Amino acid sequence: MPYAVGLQAAASALLHAGFPTQFTLAIVIFLLIMHVISCFEQEQPDAPKTLPGHSLSAIHPFFRRRFDFLNWGFHATGQSVFQFHLLRNQVIVVSGERARETFFAARGLDLEQGFKILSGALPTLKGVTSDLQNKARNIIYKRLATVQRNTSLSDLIPAILEDSRRIMEGWGSGGSFDPFEKVYELIFQTTVRSLTCSEIADDPAIVARLKVLYDKLDHGTTPATVLLPWLPTPAMLKKLWATKQIYDIVAHAIATREQSGVPQNDTLQMLLDSKDDKLIIVGFIMGLLIAGARATGTTASWLITFLGANPEWRAKALLEVQTLLSNYPLSQPTPNGSTSAHLATIPLEAWEAEMPVLDSLIRETLRIAQPHSAMRRNLGPDLYIENKRVPTGSYVIYPFSDVHLDPELYPDPWKFDPSRPVDTKTPFGYVGWGGGKTTCLGTRLAKLELKMVSSLFLLGFQHHIVDINGKVADVAPKPDWNDIHMCRPAKGSCYVKYEKLETQL
Ligand code: HEM
Repeated sequence: MPYAVGLQAAASALLHAGFPTQFTLAIVIFLLIMHVISCFEQEQPDAPKTLPGHSLSAIHPFFRRRFDFLNWGFHATGQSVFQFHLLRNQVIVVSGERARETFFAARGLDLEQGFKILSGALPTLKGVTSDLQNKARNIIYKRLATVQRNTSLSDLIPAILEDSRRIMEGWGSGGSFDPFEKVYELIFQTTVRSLTCSEIADDPAIVARLKVLYDKLDHGTTPATVLLPWLPTPAMLKKLWATKQIYDIVAHAIATREQSGVPQNDTLQMLLDSKDDKLIIVGFIMGLLIAGARATGTTASWLITFLGANPEWRAKALLEVQTLLSNYPLSQPTPNGSTSAHLATIPLEAWEAEMPVLDSLIRETLRIAQPHSAMRRNLGPDLYIENKRVPTGSYVIYPFSDVHLDPELYPDPWKFDPSRPVDTKTPFGYVGWGGGKTTCLGTRLAKLELKMVSSLFLLGFQHHIVDINGKVADVAPKPDWNDIHMCRPAKGSCYVKYEKLETQL
């Protein structure tokens, strides 16, 4: 019985092998079984065409070179809707006007579930930042609306400007920096200010620590941490640890406030006064901080970059800010004649309604440098997009590049041109702030932060873009949409060269 002996020997070797070997073998067998099952699955006639190649081969490009991968998918299948598998998850990618109309309107398509499996960069705490009950999610969104009421936003104006002044002072009289680090850092601070509390926002060391932890979550997101979250890989353990540390910082700030018994005028106080469950408060801060800081930080970094590479738009934006200042003169001089103090007296309505140049600059920045793919899970019932069935339980992706880089809608799509006419006829012809059932719930706050930070920077500094050799670049680098967070150009390829002006920040 040579076979039995062989099997026995193999079984005994396996039993005596260490845990890592047994574990790896279990994974390999699991993947093989899934592969065999998928080979027997029949493609239905109304199913989207499947990408050629093995399902495992999609994992790496989907997570690491998403823009190229999705474009290749449309090309390789020759279809506007195609599908592929990420392990056992069916993922359908859609494009075109009719598809996005259905996508943005469909009631069964759920953002949170889609985001969880396909992106996974958020700190995952069941019931706190993920798997939220509808009720908890609604409360969090309601509180976010409260943060953006006129009175609360107006109260935030001086605080955000003061944070910006302090950080810009630290940049000294001139030099160069990587905007994707320095501007992002500044926005992280202003977002912490807007969404948390003075205990955290007033302490630069804690803010810096939080940023490091959130960066760890972003960079520690690997295909395994997303697709096999139960697998204790080193990356997963690091993510868990970072999430716990973020949780501790937030929980400590809440406890400090409660013990002090001294109320403050900030978001944490509003949350505590609303008598929400502690887990909701933690969920609000942990979840929204990362969503808000990343999107706003990316946009601000690119906005400053585009302004530096487009002197004529820089001049227009500066003139707009100067006009705003002269339209709202000081009734009495600020203590040290500071620009930030003067800007802080400008009413919210003026920031929102009297800055058309900055509005179009932000709009164009989002069109060209927001590498977002909207992701959803179909919670049911089955639906059809472009006559292709999207079964209950499957995932659907709509890449924003489909509309924002469409040469029919935006001729010469990679050109940064804020004077492009606003097309109001094409359905969802612009989705920079989302569309249909899912629009950004932080738009007011984000726009205000972007306008205040760029205004103070324009008034306080002269700047332009240089390449790695310090040579002036009159064309901004091309956003790399394969970087799914910031579409950051190659590290070190672009710097902001700046010089402090006489103006008192
Ligand atoms: C420049 C900054 C920002 C941009 C460009 C942006 C963009 C977007 C977009 C495109 C969506 C829809 C996503 C999709 O359909 O897949 C979205 C959703 C959302 N955004 Fe923002 N966002 C920004 C800042 C913020 C901030 C500061 C907050 C909160 C403080 C925030 C909170 C949200 C929330 C809660 C949703 C989900 C809405 C829902 O579930 O219906 N965003 N955002």
